[in-house]
Amino acid sequence: MIHFRDNVKKMKGYVPGEQPPPGTKVIKLNTNENPYPPSPEVMNVLRGFEGEWLRRYPDPLAGMAREAAARAFGVPADWVMASNGSDEMLALLARAFLEKGRRIAYPVPTYSLYVTLAEMQDASTAEVDYDEEYNLPVEGLLAVQADLTFVCSPNNPSSTVSPAGDLARLAAGLKGVLVVDEAYAEFADGNALGLVSKYENVIVLRTLSKAYSLAGLRVGFGVARPELLEGLIKIKDSYNVDSVALRLAAAAMNDQAWMAANAARIRASRERLAAELERMKFRLWPAQANFILARPPKGDARYLYLELRDRGILVRYWDRPRLDDKIRISVGTEEENRALLDALKPLIL
Ligand SMILES: Cc1ncc(COP(=O)(O)O)c(C=O)c1O
Repeated sequence: MIHFRDNVKKMKGYVPGEQPPPGTKVIKLNTNENPYPPSPEVMNVLRGFEGEWLRRYPDPLAGMAREAAARAFGVPADWVMASNGSDEMLALLARAFLEKGRRIAYPVPTYSLYVTLAEMQDASTAEVDYDEEYNLPVEGLLAVQADLTFVCSPNNPSSTVSPAGDLARLAAGLKGVLVVDEAYAEFADGNALGLVSKYENVIVLRTLSKAYSLAGLRVGFGVARPELLEGLIKIKDSYNVDSVALRLAAAAMNDQAWMAANAARIRASRERLAAELERMKFRLWPAQANFILARPPKGDARYLYLELRDRGILVRYWDRPRLDDKIRISVGTEEENRALLDALKPLIL
């Protein structure tokens, strides 16, 4: 018999979106990847990579990547910590602040990894409902006073943003730590980085997986005061970001122009796609990320998801309360978005 901890035995575990093997001919609009390639500067560094850089261990604090990120975020280098994807940063936060008898709070529906992390730590969860318009339930979250509060903004899967004023009110009123998961911030009109200098209990998370087209590289960043990062550094793997990732991440962060140009293209495509979906009578929420949450006119989201899948187009569907009548569509290239719309048209008649 294998004796897992009781909470591990009970856990379902996180279920990632479908990842067909490379080379499979599908239009992949289900896991919010960037449809455009990474910066040519990143590919140059990869081509020129020297074996000597692999022979030795990487910098435990990811110096080059962290410094490039700090320049891009406009903060000192010791306010930035690199991680193996922002998922690792979320896991480190759970490990540092949660255990049996402690509590995490987050508004729902949101990124379903949060509950998995709480279950892993055997912590209790307080899920506070967003209203129909996805306004941040500030009072509800303040009433919980959790040890750790996660807010995803732009929120996955609604693509809606929590205004900086609401986040500031939350940060000021919480005794625990506020994590603002900004995996999609580069596609939005504003961001919460400014909160970090005002509130010592705030950490903002960023990733290279979305706007920088590097989901396969696995690099994310936490931005917070050094006192908060200190505790996370203590519990991370010594070499959590490998030498390849570190050098490529630095190159990506140093090419902000490439990222910004692609983010702008995706935003423009998002607006065109949203307008077409609305013409087809989908109910949408104001999208600020590189995806759109859409409720089909007849609410038959599961049917559409399966029919699209049969036609080689993957979108995301969840059989979960408040989401089971909606699909989440990642914004693709103009051609991919057109193919999606063409496939949808006969299905919703
Ligand atoms: C809200 C949110 N946070 C974090 C992540 C994880 O990103 P990473 O690839 O940096 O681990 C995702 C990925 O889908 C996400 O949607």
